[in-house]
Amino acid sequence: MVQEQEALIERIVHDLGPDGTHVMDVARAVSKRFGYIPNSAIPTIARHLQLSPVEVRDMITFYGHLSTDPLGTTVVRLCNAVVENMMGAGEVAAAFERETGIRFGETTSDGEISLRYTACMGLSDQAPSALINDVPFTGIHPELVQEIVRGIRAGLNLTTLPGSGVRHNLKKPGEIIFRRSMEHGAAIDKLLGVSREEALEEIKRSGMRGAGGAGFPAGKKWELCKNASGDKHYVICNADEGEPGTFKDRVLLAYNAHQVFEGMTIAAYVVGATEGIVYLRDEYDYLRGHLERVLEERREKGVLGDTIRSYQKFSFDIRIEVGAGSYVVGEESALIESLEGKRAAPRERPPFPVQRGYLSQPTIVSNVETFTSAAAVIERGAEWFRSFGTDKSPGTKLLSVSGDVQQPGVYEIEYGTTIRTVLHLVGARNAQAVQIGGASGRCLSSGGFERRIAFEDVPTGGSFIVFGPGRDVLEYMRQFIEFFAEESCGWCTPCRVGTTLLSRFMDRLVAGEATRGDLDRAIEMCDTIRNASRCGLGITAPNPLLTSLESMPELYERRLSAESYAPQFDLGAELRAGAAAANRPAPQGM
Ligand SMILES: Cc1cc2nc3c(=O)[nH]c(=O)nc-3n(C[C@H](O)[C@H](O)[C@H](O)COP(=O)(O)O)c2cc1C
Ligand code: SF4
Repeated sequence: MVQEQEALIERIVHDLGPDGTHVMDVARAVSKRFGYIPNSAIPTIARHLQLSPVEVRDMITFYGHLSTDPLGTTVVRLCNAVVENMMGAGEVAAAFERETGIRFGETTSDGEISLRYTACMGLSDQAPSALINDVPFTGIHPELVQEIVRGIRAGLNLTTLPGSGVRHNLKKPGEIIFRRSMEHGAAIDKLLGVSREEALEEIKRSGMRGAGGAGFPAGKKWELCKNASGDKHYVICNADEGEPGTFKDRVLLAYNAHQVFEGMTIAAYVVGATEGIVYLRDEYDYLRGHLERVLEERREKGVLGDTIRSYQKFSFDIRIEVGAGSYVVGEESALIESLEGKRAAPRERPPFPVQRGYLSQPTIVSNVETFTSAAAVIERGAEWFRSFGTDKSPGTKLLSVSGDVQQPGVYEIEYGTTIRTVLHLVGARNAQAVQIGGASGRCLSSGGFERRIAFEDVPTGGSFIVFGPGRDVLEYMRQFIEFFAEESCGWCTPCRVGTTLLSRFMDRLVAGEATRGDLDRAIEMCDTIRNASRCGLGITAPNPLLTSLESMPELYERRLSAESYAPQFDLGAELRAGAAAANRPAPQGM
């Protein structure tokens, strides 16, 4: 095996170059071939990429989908995110355990199957879902599990098994992003008739804002990057889409990749970049073949590559890099670290990526949807773009709608649309609450349904999860906070320790064991986490608690223990556990 490893690593490094930024590609290839990354491969990877073994191990152990422990030939990664749990992931998990005879976290004794949980895979509209090796499975129910496991054991091609495959699920195209009339290359033809400065002015005049969540004005970002000095400028498309309940970028890449690449090309023209990268989350690896084909088509048409549309001064090409399972990597500076072959820890800022980004050069990192809107602005003009949406939030927004609705899927709505209108559109009757913007967003009850989706009111990166009547909303808030505790990169103590403590508080709250004093202390802790964390993960981690407390205080009132003080340490349980471990009888009266 060691010889085979060496040969494989040598081959990949020969193709890509002996450069530390390729460590993810090499690690993924080894993992794909052997099912995991054997410890013996680490020094070999390090030697070929001129890194230290510690650097390689550090990077590998950061990502959820890379493992140095042997895994089964087939790895079932069942998504246990909030919407999946609402839709029955628990029953599906029990069925997998029954059929395989092992628990999640284990591997069958014949080395055939491993069961693992994974965070949101961008398939909440088709939950419950799983990734089995590289193949996505959707709409899984317990009865299907028997057939799936039998198929795996019989060595059948995974793509032929029931439940495999993804529906694109575009429910409502709009006027800008999924506009049918878009011609591939039309925006680029317009672009090459104007100067870089004029193109930038058009984007600025459109008032377009980033669609990744924070809503930073795109024109401002492009201008900062254009004016920053460096040897080279880069354009990066953030297709990590890890926010729970978000899947609109998946649909956009599947249906409208041409416009995404067109927008990246426009950004490159404005800032003077020759190289673009799409950072695709591992869970969307199945889209890679399609994306590569679209890129090739564009090169053949002359709208990508050398001398675009025969315009001597403009060359730009795009490559795709695939991640390995991490939420925090979606944060722009963490994403750049990951592209440079490191663990995805967010950077201290300033400097911002537009000043010092990928390989320390000025870099634009923008969301998939942002690039698509940029292509529309250049093709149809800023005035036309501004005729949609609101003054402060022009244009349209893609929503990933899931949870208790009749029609889950992707909807393109105008900014300024009320939450009630969206609920009506998607067939959500009697909604109890809506989680807007994913785990890091906000929870609103019916009192907030007249509010508008717009940066001046309720901003969102696109996730729209509906909790119907009878749902235990606090339990889902507990799961969101547990997610943050698991995904914290651990760099800042307030985020690392604070999210774990908040998670424990939510456990006690949901179990009816938390007191009012505990709640007060948890709120104080939220302040510390928000104010002392380096990146958006820590800053937004308290949101599930704080926003649900604000919109549904009665849920907390009902759940708080009547006791003014409840001990957090159960002496009896600890003594019983100690006695059992030592094989002694339990102490009397405990
Ligand atoms: C923990 C965390 C995860 C993030 N994940 C994503 C993501 O998956 N996709 C995305 O576009 N932006 C994500 N962001 C926001 C990015 O940092 C960045 O603001 C965004 O890519 C900028 O694009 P825009 O200007 O088009 O909005 C994340 C931020 C944080 C703090
Ligand atoms: S806030 Fe959390 S995720 Fe962000 S850098 Fe600090 S520890 Fe890492």
